[in-house]
Amino acid sequence: MKRCFYAMGAINYKNGTVSCCPRQSDQLVFQNDTFLPSEIFNHENFKELRRKLHNDEWPKGCDTCESMEEVGVASMRNDFTLEKNGSFYKDQGKPPKGANIYTVQFYEEFHKEHSPEEHFLIKCYDPETHETRNEGLRHIELRFSNACNFACKHCSKVFSSGWKGKLQNFIPDEESKLYDLKQLLGTEHRHNKDDDYEMALTVEQSLQIVDDLNANFPYLEHINFAGGELLYQKQFLPVLKKLGDHPNASNIHLSFHSNFNSDFDVVKLSELLLPFSTSTITISIDAGRTFYSYFRSGGTWEQLEKNIKKFREYNDYTWLDITCTTSIYQMLDIYDVFESFISLEASINISIVQSPKYLDPSLILLDFEKETMKDIEKTEELIKSYFDKPIDRVSEKTGHMYWVKHEQTLEKLHRIVKYIKSFKPKYHDYNRFLIYRKKSDMIWNENFNDHFQNYQIDEHNELIRVK
Ligand SMILES: C[S@@+](CC[C@H](N)C(=O)[O-])C[C@H]1O[C@@H](n2cnc3c(N)ncnc32)[C@H](O)[C@@H]1O
Ligand code: SF4
Ligand code: SF4
Repeated sequence: MKRCFYAMGAINYKNGTVSCCPRQSDQLVFQNDTFLPSEIFNHENFKELRRKLHNDEWPKGCDTCESMEEVGVASMRNDFTLEKNGSFYKDQGKPPKGANIYTVQFYEEFHKEHSPEEHFLIKCYDPETHETRNEGLRHIELRFSNACNFACKHCSKVFSSGWKGKLQNFIPDEESKLYDLKQLLGTEHRHNKDDDYEMALTVEQSLQIVDDLNANFPYLEHINFAGGELLYQKQFLPVLKKLGDHPNASNIHLSFHSNFNSDFDVVKLSELLLPFSTSTITISIDAGRTFYSYFRSGGTWEQLEKNIKKFREYNDYTWLDITCTTSIYQMLDIYDVFESFISLEASINISIVQSPKYLDPSLILLDFEKETMKDIEKTEELIKSYFDKPIDRVSEKTGHMYWVKHEQTLEKLHRIVKYIKSFKPKYHDYNRFLIYRKKSDMIWNENFNDHFQNYQIDEHNELIRVK
């Protein structure tokens, strides 16, 4: 049996379709058929996915978890582990209300108190019919639309209206087709040439979803939002306000990713986050200072720093994480990435760009293994020098205690190293990257060489090490 918390107890809104987790690539339910959680949770396709996992088969759409596990890297399926008492536990590195230390024991007690044992997820799931009772819905990821003020180099028009704008006047040429530059061809995250689904929920539809959640899913514990860019979208604040009325709001952990680089109302957002047990904003930074505005086209490092500072002045209870989604671009200056991240004094996460393959971080090892390992050593030294400076904070409003663990930062770097050493990059994909770099610079009207210090592009469009 392949046990998966998400398959049994989660709903995930994607691009005009709905599945159970962000990694799942099969389109289980179409938004045009229904967008209401109570009609989605036990849809035939959800039950079939659960059946396969229960029978120890990998469903086709679970391919990223399958390939991660093949190379011994923790997959998303391992986010939550089933504890002895039958509750699922996730080490979120931060305590829920009333606890200073986030331990398995605390979590077990927390579950007993907030969801009676007969409603534990594992008991809500029926291994015969593969249905999960409504009391088992624990996790939901909502997505309203692809409206976004950025056009980041690893993203695509499926997630970003900014990308749509960039490609407006670009007619895919032979070279883009030959090298299958999926982002430029508009085929990234698309299942076939007829797949042009888009998530586009109106404010009213979004509020109907919340009404359904508030009325029918009493033990919801995790609410996550995906983008586009939430802080730039009109649905977000009304939805947040209504979710504050959920019967379990005071036990809900609410989280979302953001580029944190738009012009948003810090005070209003903070007020709407107060009813929840905990809230986390994961700021996707994905670059060091020196190449931030190149990679994350649409914003500046200075604006990012300003928004973080202002937010912290008003809000000492929302956890601000920062994350680096790591592609070959970040590997070109990994030291700058970690140095810039450390300066923001927040918990650091990492994730890996596995798709498109021409942005895979391991591609750097094909021609620059020695140089990359040196960069990593230098970065390790930098992180270690911060070990003796833990940062503790206690929220005046909620009493939550927050801290930044520098030891964990080193572990995050090692996760990248483990991935790049395990994955087998191909020269074909490296060449695709070089062409993608050239074409995207042309479309974005930018110049790689103005932003990177260790590497430059020469007159033959080759990457060369200069420092
Ligand atoms: C699509 S964005 C939406 C939320 C918000 N706009 C942001 O940037 O955080 C969510 C996350 O996906 C990441 N992302 C973008 N392109 C990706 C790719 N090709 N592979 C993996 N993650 C990617 C971003 O770095 C970000 O952390
Ligand atoms: S196994 Fe992985 S891809 Fe499949 S449902 Fe679980 S978390 Fe999602
Ligand atoms: S900010 Fe987020 S959604 Fe927008 S382009 Fe960047 S990664 Fe994509």
